[in-house]
Amino acid sequence: MLHIEKIAERILFLKGDVELKASREVEKLHDVKAMPQAAQTLEEQSIRDYNNWAIQCSAHADSMSKKLFEELVMDEERHYAQYDNELENVAKYGNEYLALQSIERSKTLSATVAVKKP
Ligand SMILES: [Fe+2]
Repeated sequence: MLHIEKIAERILFLKGDVELKASREVEKLHDVKAMPQAAQTLEEQSIRDYNNWAIQCSAHADSMSKKLFEELVMDEERHYAQYDNELENVAKYGNEYLALQSIERSKTLSATVAVKKP
């Protein structure tokens, strides 16, 4: 389940209203190497937001919402670490690493399509 779905489910449980809309314009990046850095910046922002919201939930004696946001912080910290690995690999191996990533993705997609065929 996506984070937004978990948060929406909690809001609905608390009898709140949910309006799903993009919080900002999608930034178009054309430099592949800049993508993990941009993603990592977004992870940092999510970690800050979820931590702040967990604190607010605690202040309002809402332990289940606090727990939800703490779990989301754990997810985002894991994602942040994954982007750290990606940035290290790109720095270490350059375009060869990116080419290998592309090949692996193609293999995965091919295997998925092959499984779906009758
Ligand atoms: Fe994330």
